[in-house]
Amino acid sequence: MNAPGAARKDLSQAPDWVRHAGLRQWVSEVARLAKPERIEWCDGSQAEYDRLCGELVAGGTFIKLDQARRPNSFLARSHPSDVARMEDRTFICSQKKELAGPTNNWIDPGEMRATLQRLFDGCMRGRTMYVMPFSMGPIGSHIAQIGVEISDSAYVAVNMRIMTRMGRAVGDWLGEDGDFVPCVHSVGAPLAAGQQDVPWPSNEKEKWIVHFPETREIWSYGSGYGGNALLGKKCLALRIASVMARDAGWLAEHMLILGVESPAGQKSYVAAAFPSACGKTNFAMLIPPAAYQGWKVTTIGEDIAWIKPGQDGRFYAINPEAGFFGVAPGTSQATNPNAMKTLASNVIFTNVALTPESDVWWEGMTETAPARLTDWQGRHWTPACGRLAAHPNARFTVAASQCPSMDVKWEDSGGVPISAFVFGGRRSNTVPLVVEAPTWEDGVYMAATLGSETTAAITGKVGVVRRDPMAMLAFCGYHIGDYFAHWLKMGAAVKHAPRVFRVNWFRKDAQGRFIWPGFGENMRILEWIVNRCHGLAQGVQTQIGLMPRYEDLNWRGLERFTREQFQEIVQMDNAAWKDEVAAHDKLLGKLGARLPAELEQRRAQLHQRLAA
Ligand code: GTP
Ligand code: SPV
Ligand code: MN
Repeated sequence: MNAPGAARKDLSQAPDWVRHAGLRQWVSEVARLAKPERIEWCDGSQAEYDRLCGELVAGGTFIKLDQARRPNSFLARSHPSDVARMEDRTFICSQKKELAGPTNNWIDPGEMRATLQRLFDGCMRGRTMYVMPFSMGPIGSHIAQIGVEISDSAYVAVNMRIMTRMGRAVGDWLGEDGDFVPCVHSVGAPLAAGQQDVPWPSNEKEKWIVHFPETREIWSYGSGYGGNALLGKKCLALRIASVMARDAGWLAEHMLILGVESPAGQKSYVAAAFPSACGKTNFAMLIPPAAYQGWKVTTIGEDIAWIKPGQDGRFYAINPEAGFFGVAPGTSQATNPNAMKTLASNVIFTNVALTPESDVWWEGMTETAPARLTDWQGRHWTPACGRLAAHPNARFTVAASQCPSMDVKWEDSGGVPISAFVFGGRRSNTVPLVVEAPTWEDGVYMAATLGSETTAAITGKVGVVRRDPMAMLAFCGYHIGDYFAHWLKMGAAVKHAPRVFRVNWFRKDAQGRFIWPGFGENMRILEWIVNRCHGLAQGVQTQIGLMPRYEDLNWRGLERFTREQFQEIVQMDNAAWKDEVAAHDKLLGKLGARLPAELEQRRAQLHQRLAA
């Protein structure tokens, strides 16, 4: 994107803060292949960010929002065919198919490299190639990793500056011979001489999100949206990092991290894995109900956790990201006041609706919709028109540092000690509100067989239950059976393995309404979880683990939620559970010899208990 006639410095030469010969050489090789009109090395400064945003406004990609209502904020509208992650276009190109496993798409790496050479040859013609050194994790942390993304999208460059630590400081840290993960991205829409650009360039015919796990490389072609294009997030911090973690004895997980402080001053940290658009952001920013005076919940991260064993025998977790790329619809003063405060300024919104006052709106932001809007596709919208104003996967990009609930330790390079792992999915039936696994191995079984109804965060059918082990189905960069074995091994590697819990906020009644009030009220379950970790709460054994009875939870301030309603969302339906276990069988049956014996044993036990 270039403003017509704008005078600019020649930024194509690597700046002096890039002292890494290998990096310079790789950049010139990619440039020789992709043939951009110019190269820009991003220093990550505010001035650079402001200039790029200005260029995006001039080119029609960004709409500047009202400066008084939403300072320094922009709206982008994507192409209607480029609105979410594309799991069917995501590939793990390991040396052998068997190493990618039954849950990943695989193509022979030699064949894939030939395809990429064809696709990337000249794919950046007429565009600027941005080079972005970035760090996942606090700069200098022993848990952090460096990546360098090359992209022909200025939208990607400004998003990466928010989502990662990006620019000069990372180049300095990389030095002359540091390791980095090379990440190449193109929207796949070269411009012929004199050709007018479109607001959201992408390739409608071909999209590819490709990982080479052995050589730790990422190549993405054809999409400009989210996890397809911001390559530090799912591609590096989960798919490639999961492989690094397997090899080096740590965990890279699709988890939020939060802190809970009791009135007595006892502080615990909890990491929780929920599939995409199932409430990680909400849970990470939870505000306890009024009855919870003196309790405090703080945020370390809301999407990804990197977790390493510490010297004291506990797991320590960091958030590798610097920003949030969060789901907008459903976010409101009622559901997530901390997110609403975070979104007051300096935000990039993608695919939300525009108000006549040049502010934003999305479904669920207010109880009544504005009388008139411009929808996410730029069309006139009224409440009666029958269409959604915002795309269901509309998102905001914003710096984590703007969030009022950030924990004092959120950028601590050593991480925070984890007391509990929580796994949750969207299940309208069968799965109870909360259950604790008796042992680490039972917890791994529970997490491995996690199921959830699909959401708009991925392209494809919405609302069907699919198995999503550890919420990592789309993000594990190797064989899922080996990943389960790695989890089992990691539990044994630490002296104080966290307790493991399963939650479900999404049970529905016969009318299709959520039974559990959720959001801030999830504090009641969080309290039970941390109290369990400290030996302070009770429950009863069931066929699937330990559950609280009504009297084991704190109901102060929620008297409207009756004992009968509670029974409805914890009750075990044996017939439904037989179907549930049949779905476990189907997933685990795909793993063959790579199904760990500990999990096979638990599968058999569950069958027996349900038959009894
Ligand atoms: P990704 O960013 O896609 O990984 O997902 P996420 O897990 O961070 O998603 P997010 O927290 O933004 O989830 C958004 C959706 O979950 C919205 O539709 C919310 O209304 C819904 N949600 C969050 N918490 C609750 C809850 O406690 N109860 C109910 N019923 N819905 C919830
Ligand atoms: C998810 O889908 O889990 C996300 C959004 O967090 S994206 O970055 O697009 O993957
Ligand atoms: Mn996510």
